[in-house]
Amino acid sequence: MTVRLSNGTYIPIEMHKVRIVQKTTLPPAAQRLAAIEEAGYNTFLLKSRDLFLDMLTDSGTNAMSDNQLAAMMVADDAYAGGESFYRLQSATQDILGFKHCIPVHQGRAAEHLLAKIFIKPGDAVVMNYHFTTTKAHFEIAGGKVLELYGPGALDTESTNPFKGNLDLDRFRAAIDEWGVEHIPFVRMEATTNLIGGQPFSLGNLKDVRAIAAPLGIPVIMDCSLITENAYFIKRREAEYKDWTIGQIISEMMAQCDLIYLSGRKSTCVRGGMIATNSDDYYTTLKGWLPLYEGFLTYGGMSSKELEAMAVGIREMVDIDVASSSADLIEYFVNEMTSRGIPAVTPPGGLAGHVDAMKFLPHLPQSVYPAGCMAAAVYLVSGVRTMERGTISMDRDEQGNDVFADIELCRFAVPRRVYSMAHMQYVADRLSWLMANKELVGGLEFYEEPPVLRFFTGRLNPINNWGAKLVEAFAAEFGPDA
Ligand code: F0G
Repeated sequence: MTVRLSNGTYIPIEMHKVRIVQKTTLPPAAQRLAAIEEAGYNTFLLKSRDLFLDMLTDSGTNAMSDNQLAAMMVADDAYAGGESFYRLQSATQDILGFKHCIPVHQGRAAEHLLAKIFIKPGDAVVMNYHFTTTKAHFEIAGGKVLELYGPGALDTESTNPFKGNLDLDRFRAAIDEWGVEHIPFVRMEATTNLIGGQPFSLGNLKDVRAIAAPLGIPVIMDCSLITENAYFIKRREAEYKDWTIGQIISEMMAQCDLIYLSGRKSTCVRGGMIATNSDDYYTTLKGWLPLYEGFLTYGGMSSKELEAMAVGIREMVDIDVASSSADLIEYFVNEMTSRGIPAVTPPGGLAGHVDAMKFLPHLPQSVYPAGCMAAAVYLVSGVRTMERGTISMDRDEQGNDVFADIELCRFAVPRRVYSMAHMQYVADRLSWLMANKELVGGLEFYEEPPVLRFFTGRLNPINNWGAKLVEAFAAEFGPDA
């Protein structure tokens, strides 16, 4: 929701009251330097106590509603057949239109099960773009991930409203090349996380379905960020401007054979789910659920989170909920671009992003510019962000780095948590950092796990640039800033 002020500008306005708060502090620069050194210049390894704003992720960090918290109080902890599950199932049926609902402990658990039942060695999995855990699971199952995005999707400064669209010509060509029997499904990620939370259009989704369905290729959607994609469809796709978020979501679901989600984003809980109308998929999946996740009526989630997810699914069709972080992200992106910061445009669905190759043009991909930027941002602001670039890619079989298509520093905006003042603070510190970018150097690994190395790997700042950056920052803002 935005309101127009009397001077003609629009600002995002909160359509909720804040009734519980969590104190935060701004650790001084010297403490930040010690903390990032201990963390091996990896923001994942920082501790909450050393952070001012935590913009690492919008996953599981959103403010829950009063109704969600209330629902958690009446959770039914039965191992089997608990009422909490049936409330989640009926929310899934009412809002998403799927009769079968399979709870899992989080999104990647759904990916694991889907990889297990759909993918065999030699298959090609078609998608608009990959997500880290998705790719890892699908490749471990022997599949090859084909990212069939359209021209301009990786252009970080763009006015293309739907950079998450799947390219239909590339899709047809992939079918010809691989053969229908080797394409187990097409996966559409609702707002493509790694290219900046960029949506696809409903028109594109319908076209994908029109190609896939007659060939018997199932359409699977990653719905982790479904409300944001639906909100962008309403805002950016003229045909649907008068539709409600609920109607748009229903229409999106009608194109899918199966959906899954991390409930940690749009539904503001900690958990995940698979849903489908297919009795066959359900029967196969349910066979594995008790082995990997838990009994069918909790799937590894706590009953409290099942209850909160049931409420979260119903609440996410409220436009005030769907727009809550998207509008603040748009404001934040405008604050950045007006200062000349190379933020990804158009604004996306889960975070503001900055193109680190443009922000730190002197650093080649071999020294991980997006990782350097995330560490530098923390040093000059106490704000924790996330690297989404080459560090987030694992090495190839020969042990070489696989350079990411784009190097992004991601400033996640958890729903209903931060304010306009917070966004102004971040944009201001970024401005200072850009003016002093020459002080930021490269990184090199000294501890590197083989899979998903970005989570726990540790790196050294080449020539100890972190200390010099903090010195320059403290000289300008004082030791306590
Ligand atoms: N799919 C998408 C689009 C995601 O963004 C995520 C997680 C997952 C699947 C995996 O779900 O974490 O519940 O297991 N994204 C988080 C992030 C981690 O920070 O963007 P999960």
